Amino acid sequence: MKAAVYSTFGPPEVVRIQERPDPIPTEQDVLIRVHATTVTTADWRVRARVMPAPIFTLIAPLVLGLRGPRKPVLGTECAGVVERVGARVTAFRPGDRVIAVTDFRMGAHAELVCAREGSALTTVPANLSFDQAVAIPFGALVALRYLRDLARVTEGQRVLVIGASGAIGVAAVQLARRLGAHVTGVCSTANVALVRSLGAAAVIDRLTEDFRQGGAVYDVVLDTVGATSFAECKNLLTPSGQFLAVLMGLTEFGQMAWTRLAGGRRVRGAIVSASKADLVHLMSLAEAGHLKPVIDSMYPLRQIVEAHRRVDSGRKVGSVVVTVP
Ligand SMILES: NC(=O)c1ccc[n+]([C@@H]2O[C@H](COP(=O)([O-])OP(=O)(O)OC[C@H]3O[C@@H](n4cnc5c(N)ncnc54)[C@H](OP(=O)(O)O)[C@@H]3O)[C@@H](O)[C@H]2O)c1
Repeated sequence: MKAAVYSTFGPPEVVRIQERPDPIPTEQDVLIRVHATTVTTADWRVRARVMPAPIFTLIAPLVLGLRGPRKPVLGTECAGVVERVGARVTAFRPGDRVIAVTDFRMGAHAELVCAREGSALTTVPANLSFDQAVAIPFGALVALRYLRDLARVTEGQRVLVIGASGAIGVAAVQLARRLGAHVTGVCSTANVALVRSLGAAAVIDRLTEDFRQGGAVYDVVLDTVGATSFAECKNLLTPSGQFLAVLMGLTEFGQMAWTRLAGGRRVRGAIVSASKADLVHLMSLAEAGHLKPVIDSMYPLRQIVEAHRRVDSGRKVGSVVVTVP
């Protein structure tokens, strides 16, 4: 099979298309012929070995590889057609349209991918294309975990989403709205209309306004891009308000521990790993039209380097999709 392979950490150009042995499914695996995958900020971080904070910077070489990448094929999610199933697989059959999140195992930038039946693997709804389906999980799994599980957002709460046009942001706006919140998004001028169309009741154009000014108060501030800090946002929070940090450094870990003990305003964050139940839930929301995929751009697999460049720009809107012929 063809796969996008890299053998040294670095810029997008370290990735190239190569022939690799086909993966062999175990008894519990589903073999997927991939039609679409994504390049995400996780692929950028792993490929370039760029980690957000000293703590991660120190452990990155151990986790990702000291001299070269431990996992030669990037990619955390894919959608396609089941080619073959292991002897003990009961829920999927050849020909099924499926989506899988390979998460930290990666390997999705390939023509064939194996996924455990019990892992984050489910059916793609009939009204979604592979491109649309695959654009959803990376951002939405994080947004769901942060808003539903960490912050426990409830009806009528006021939620500020910073970085509202990124992969996590576009999902966060829609999911917060779905949880009944009054959502304010922060993004740049070109993306204001999009963020409003996703359900934000108010949008702050970060190029012309400062979200810290203006006197509004929120129950939840979700910073998807590390654009601000708890210290800067304290005055924006209600007395029991929560600052959700998607990017966490030593400061945020300290604040998470301290604010838990002290009570009052809380800082929360988590490293999110995919769950099957959440993937199923997200696909059902998308099927019902409650969660819209936002696709920044699409590239064929042979242009994987361009797809990485687009992600590295830090300017993508939603997801960068890679089609696999
Ligand atoms: N905790 C976890 O488990 C976890 C999981 C996944 C990802 N992450 C991290 O989450 C971060 C965001 O990921 P993503 O994929 O959503 O990012 P993304 O899609 O690359 O976000 C891009 C958008 O962010 C906005 N932006 C850029 N700089 C900004 C700034 N200074 N202030 C406000 N907005 C800014 C831009 O929109 P505008 O120009 O419209 O403002 C841009 O279009 C990544 O660093 C990733 O590593 C964490």
